[in-house]
Amino acid sequence: MELRFRKAAAHRLSRRFCFGSGVYVVGAGSNDGAEALAAFILELHYQGKPGRKTGMKSIAFSGLIVRPFQPGDADAIMEITKAAWDGVTMAELREKQLGLVEGKPWREHKAGSVLAQCQRRPDWALVGLVNGEIIGYATMSLSPGGEIGTVGNNAVHPRWQGRGIGTALIGEVVRRLEAAGVRLLEVATLKEDAAAQRVYEKLGFQEVTRTLHYSRRPLAGESGVTPV
Ligand SMILES: CC(C)(COP(=O)(O)OP(=O)(O)OC[C@H]1O[C@@H](n2cnc3c(N)ncnc32)[C@H](O)[C@@H]1OP(=O)(O)O)[C@@H](O)C(=O)NCCC(=O)NCCS
Repeated sequence: MELRFRKAAAHRLSRRFCFGSGVYVVGAGSNDGAEALAAFILELHYQGKPGRKTGMKSIAFSGLIVRPFQPGDADAIMEITKAAWDGVTMAELREKQLGLVEGKPWREHKAGSVLAQCQRRPDWALVGLVNGEIIGYATMSLSPGGEIGTVGNNAVHPRWQGRGIGTALIGEVVRRLEAAGVRLLEVATLKEDAAAQRVYEKLGFQEVTRTLHYSRRPLAGESGVTPV
């Protein structure tokens, strides 16, 4: 099913997309003492409850078509992912700290994982088109019991960012999760990703906590356990 955003409809949709508060703690992180080899990344977690309004601005874009992922969209998903995610993926931060992983640049890792997610559940992946060109995507998932809906990977091609398209796409994901009956909505992002934080807050999510991510290469003979 296709969904067409027109200017007038955008105002109505923007109201529908809003959902509201839950009360959650803001945690802080520090990288004091992190090992030279350790990658140290903060991730923010947001939650929202369906059904309540926020003061979100209306969508400032018309002419966007949103539909589920199709097999022929694979190249566009890969291209957008490679173009959009600079500075805001774990894969890039990890590569900066530790070097290439599995011999592949971070863009390949990220594009591969987004595409795999779309192909695994095409019905949980939406693409946004303008004049027939795919310019963004947003994915979602449901907990086994259907109570928690999670906003997954999402991106808008840099040429199209800053025009309300990310908010519209993720708003449509939220609408579909709400229609599926979820009682809680969640999303996680990195502290580096100010644009994503803004979008989630515009859509009524509130920060729950911050997670620290560590990683390192194996160190020779470190276990202290003598093999038997
Ligand atoms: C996140 C993303 C999808 C948003 O798409 P978009 O089409 O630009 O989103 P919108 O135009 O609807 O909204 C972006 C908002 O972020 C704000 N923003 C952008 N860069 C910002 C920054 N560095 N600091 C603070 N706010 C910023 C914009 O001003 C806008 O807010 P406004 O409407 O109040 O002015 C896009 O930036 C993207 O593809 N990022 C790379 C992938 C990514 O990080 N995905 C999220 C993973 S959790």
